Amino acid sequence: MTEFVCSKCGHREPVSTRKPKCDCGGLWKLDYNPPKFDENLIDKSEWSIFRYRAFMPLEDETWRSVTMGEGMTPIIPFDDDLMLKMDYFMPTLSFKDRGAAVLVTHCKSIGVKSCVQDSSGNAGNSVAAYSGRAGIECGIFVPEGASPGKIDMIRAHGATCTVVPGARDHCADVCRAKVRDKGAYYANHVYNPYFYQGTKTYIYEIWEQLRRIPQHIFLPLGNGTLFLGGLYGLEHLASSGVIDKMPTVVAIQTENCAPFAKAKELGLHDVPDIDVKPTLAEGIAIGKPMRAPEILDLIYKYDIEIVTIPEADILPARAALARRGVYAEHTTAGNYAAYLRYVQLHGRAPDSLITMCGAGLKSDH
Ligand SMILES: Cc1ncc(COP(=O)(O)O)c(C=O)c1O
Ligand SMILES: [Zn+2]
Repeated sequence: MTEFVCSKCGHREPVSTRKPKCDCGGLWKLDYNPPKFDENLIDKSEWSIFRYRAFMPLEDETWRSVTMGEGMTPIIPFDDDLMLKMDYFMPTLSFKDRGAAVLVTHCKSIGVKSCVQDSSGNAGNSVAAYSGRAGIECGIFVPEGASPGKIDMIRAHGATCTVVPGARDHCADVCRAKVRDKGAYYANHVYNPYFYQGTKTYIYEIWEQLRRIPQHIFLPLGNGTLFLGGLYGLEHLASSGVIDKMPTVVAIQTENCAPFAKAKELGLHDVPDIDVKPTLAEGIAIGKPMRAPEILDLIYKYDIEIVTIPEADILPARAALARRGVYAEHTTAGNYAAYLRYVQLHGRAPDSLITMCGAGLKSDH
């Protein structure tokens, strides 16, 4: 049976628990081992991430009334070395729909009637939209300065949106206080392990589209929902014998907020306190990522390089993408800037894939 298990003390709880984390403070992990990845288990008649549901711990058929066709995003060539996976081709225009579709499906399956979530914007958009679709009341907390477009979308989906003065990390604290004091269900992309069961489909899709995994996979790293999902997916393909080695994974942070780069430099197993400077890459501006120890374990295990984006490179990268037809939000333009920086540091990186995971209109402010 699939259960939550505490990442600190090993305590177990049914996945229907309303507790956002273990009483000891540890975050939940899912004790779930999917069957070996096998192409025959993919439901090729289903045009959404739920075509991979044989590898997801779903309780029932609720997903059918929640899905909005998320996933199935194209991979397009950008130049001789670089491919873009167009993950902003999604119902709410960001990759977060992969995670939210599975998380909200889980919420509906276990009878959650109302939930709260904090976010720099995209995850909040996504949870608001899927909650609206699932008939779950939803409250989203965003930090001041979040894109007005994201706030408008959240409200349009029928969720309340509370703008919290101060930095992104403070906004999370305010939302968590609401969870603690009012007992609201925390439909959060960082805390709730179901979210990662959605983001891992990013890798399954790449494999299904290309029949292989590219040599270099670049993943943005804020709280690490795509990073962790991506690594779960890759490890699943590797343990199933579908790929014979892990690709070179490169993690992307911004120079103005790079707690993982600092931790790695110092050889730490959790992130140190850092100064967070303002950055256009709002999606990865996470000073205190809650799953840092788990992420750092993977960084050391696979010797993952962390590239930090110089702030001045973000807008030129965005313009370069846009001139070639791809209108990405600032954080996502940063993925391209990080790729260019990696090439500057190491020379050509053939067979590279980056994600275009947030749409440009979201950050026009
Ligand atoms: C466009 C975009 N890219 C990357 C990220 C980083 O995702 P994570 O914080 O899960 O690492 C986010 C998160 O909000 C985002 O919105
Ligand atoms: Zn515990």
